[in-house]
Amino acid sequence: MALKHFLSVADLTPQQVVDVLTLANDVKLNPGNYRKALDGQTLAMIFQKKSTRTRVSFEVGMYQLGGHALFLSAADIQIGRGETIADTARTISRYCNGIMARVFGHEIVEELAQHASIPVINGLSDLEHPCQTLCDAQTLTEKWSPAGTFDPSCLHGKKLVYVGDGNNMAHSLIDTAAALGMDITIVAPHGYWCDPAIVERGQRLGAKTGSIVGLTADPIEGVRGADCIYTDVWASMGQEEEAAKRLRDFAGFQVDEAMLARANPGCLFMHCLPAHRGEEVSAGVCDGPQSIIFDQAENRLHVQKAIMLTLMSKGA
Ligand code: CP
Ligand code: NVA
Repeated sequence: MALKHFLSVADLTPQQVVDVLTLANDVKLNPGNYRKALDGQTLAMIFQKKSTRTRVSFEVGMYQLGGHALFLSAADIQIGRGETIADTARTISRYCNGIMARVFGHEIVEELAQHASIPVINGLSDLEHPCQTLCDAQTLTEKWSPAGTFDPSCLHGKKLVYVGDGNNMAHSLIDTAAALGMDITIVAPHGYWCDPAIVERGQRLGAKTGSIVGLTADPIEGVRGADCIYTDVWASMGQEEEAAKRLRDFAGFQVDEAMLARANPGCLFMHCLPAHRGEEVSAGVCDGPQSIIFDQAENRLHVQKAIMLTLMSKGA
């Protein structure tokens, strides 16, 4: 089934996830083959929240595919003065070939998709961050495939442990791990667990793909057997006022050298960035030899080019 929008990894079948990762790897290895692939196309990028990686990688990605990207701060377009999401989607559809949006409520990307006649990509909502976790899967596949190959089936049976807030990152990691047959454990303090509907969705899919989706509030038990430990900020964008309380509530959940030592030997460390060293991760782990955070950041570019090619190429 052709994909119209990309709001969630759960929009894709497991085979479509593998197809996007495979294309992302080819785009990375052979960028010259895609230089005209989106010739003359324009991506509108709507931002309600700040961004470094998403903004830069989408804009550079469109340029490298022969297209153009428009940065639209939500505060500076008419949405900021109350124009409806529906009218914004209909209007932009008359000029552009795709919309990427970073928003607060997930219903905003859903509403954009409902009213746009062009593909809509979720560049992060309060609920999900699917572009990030596809690039994370690409990065782990590169690390764990046999030398000289790129084979997402290498993720089968590996254990990813996410330590921290049960937020947008945790949700999209569940969907991604479940699609790819990788085990995932979410380690979060009580009160900060994931949306139960997303956990259930992951467990249902995992039962078919061989992925075990688990939850615990015990960081010592949770990281046992981890092949990769992942974390994210304790206070996400929009939660700044809760930052002090969260700092207290997440005590004992920092990914530090002692936690990494309890995981499997060679366990990798991942973070979507931006990172707060000394809070969710120690500086030593974040910048240490097991950290692959900038490989992740780079792969945002390649995987998003693959997503745009999948949604926006003529005949897609
Ligand atoms: N990881 C990520 O989405 O980074 P930005 O907030 O800088 O886009
Ligand atoms: N959970 C973080 C992710 C940033 C990329 C946030 O939403 O702010």
